[in-house]
Amino acid sequence: MALLAQIQEIFLSLINPWQFMYLAASWFPGTVIRLVRDRKFGVLLSPSQLKDIWFSNFWDWFAPRLRLNAGVRVIPLLEGRTTGGLVVEEPAGPGIGGTILELGAGNGNWVDIFSDKYLEQSRAGGAATADGSSGVEVVDTTLATHRGGGGAGSEKKENKKNAREPVTRVYGVEPNRDLHANLRRKAKEAGLEGVYEIVPVGIEDLDNPAKWGGKVEKGSVDCIVSILCLCSIPEPRDNIRELYGYLKKGGRWYVYEHVRRDEGWGMRAYQSFVNLFWPHFLGGCQLCRPTEQWLREAGPWEKIDVGHPLEEEWHHTLPHILGVFTK
Ligand SMILES: C[S@@+](CC[C@H](N)C(=O)[O-])C[C@H]1O[C@@H](n2cnc3c(N)ncnc32)[C@H](O)[C@@H]1O
Repeated sequence: MALLAQIQEIFLSLINPWQFMYLAASWFPGTVIRLVRDRKFGVLLSPSQLKDIWFSNFWDWFAPRLRLNAGVRVIPLLEGRTTGGLVVEEPAGPGIGGTILELGAGNGNWVDIFSDKYLEQSRAGGAATADGSSGVEVVDTTLATHRGGGGAGSEKKENKKNAREPVTRVYGVEPNRDLHANLRRKAKEAGLEGVYEIVPVGIEDLDNPAKWGGKVEKGSVDCIVSILCLCSIPEPRDNIRELYGYLKKGGRWYVYEHVRRDEGWGMRAYQSFVNLFWPHFLGGCQLCRPTEQWLREAGPWEKIDVGHPLEEEWHHTLPHILGVFTK
């Protein structure tokens, strides 16, 4: 019986990426129908614009579900409560604070955590609420898989100490303009008007004022936050090195990313096979990136505290890294 249950778990784990691609694909017809209805034929004829709007429709639906699953890792990470890839009760280091660069901010899934309201609420011992905390069913998806203690959706019940510091400025880098309306709305709802600035370009154009009319100085950033974004950026190795330059000495890079599977040739081959299809459904997201290695090589770090969440077993097609790099 135990063997049967294990076989079933492995099978479900292996088909999980296909289910996720199916979910993303199911948003395509509705996107096309809406564009035809709105007579936006130009968008229909532009593959990149069509891809952006399709992804944005899907992500607007999926992001609260991701939050319910991945929030049990991401929120402790930003509060300084992770070590060795594990979530811990007491802060293991500082949480986010100061000037923040949020990479691939999407539709603002994590924006409320940057707000003073969130800080006051959690300092007072209150529950930190998620946008998706009411009326959203948990979808167990490969991007967000959490099968450890606490369980998906346990964010609401969390009432732990955190080492979050006041946030003074956030640059939310998000090139997909179709996601901006919700990102802007959530920043406003979080009370971050005047603090949260949307940078409407990819991270590769961050230092190009001609592209977005602003500038972030190298060496001026206290924290970089990358949640499931480095899988989507172009020239990742070079751009990660470039981003390292934006951190102050002592600055921290908080990372929750899915990465290449390094052990077991069978799963590596399977991950490479899934990756033949995956980027076409998920806005160009790549499964087989050695992101931890590229982060380590980006420049000298004073401290690296990163690891793989324990509950991700050998059959997970999207293993994650969770942790903090300190410059
Ligand atoms: C998987 S989504 C994650 C969004 C958000 N971090 C979240 O957790 O909900 C990846 C995001 O990276 C963004 N992205 C793609 N290319 C990018 C680039 N070159 N620079 C910055 N962000 C990028 C995508 O538009 C998308 O919003």
